[in-house]
Amino acid sequence: MVRSLLRVIVVLGLAGPLLIAGIIATGPEDEGKAVFLKRCKMCHGADGKGNPAIARMLKVEFKALDSDYVQAKSDAEFKKTITKGTGKMAAVRGATDPEIVSVIAYIRSLAKKE
Ligand code: HEC
Repeated sequence: MVRSLLRVIVVLGLAGPLLIAGIIATGPEDEGKAVFLKRCKMCHGADGKGNPAIARMLKVEFKALDSDYVQAKSDAEFKKTITKGTGKMAAVRGATDPEIVSVIAYIRSLAKKE
């Protein structure tokens, strides 16, 4: 009895941190990256600094997504930009709420890596 209880504790002790590590490894940032590559990269570039060809076409200068200017915006403003568009950026169609949450986490992570 005591033995099997100990075993359960040992297994949980080992599995717990692994589980947590797993959750961290596939956190919202990773999901957000996938969303970004699918829905944003064509205009903002893989690094978020802007696709020069699109910039020329739309006659805009992309602000780097990791810049202080963009990072100063709130999550709510990001969400509005994505769902409603801003300036020459059209609303991104078809992005689900969880996708928007995770892509915002990804944009925040771009600035942290500097
Ligand atoms: C069709 C091209 C296009 C796509 C796709 C696109 N954007 Fe943009 N985005 C733009 C342009 C152009 C601007 C600059 C708008 C301006 O200042 O006129 C911009 C600006 C932004 C800004 C800065 C907003 C501001 O107020 O300065 C953020 C944040 C942003 N985009 C996030 C995203 C995210 C996240 C996605 C994907 C879910 C995305 N964009 C997809 C073209 C695009």
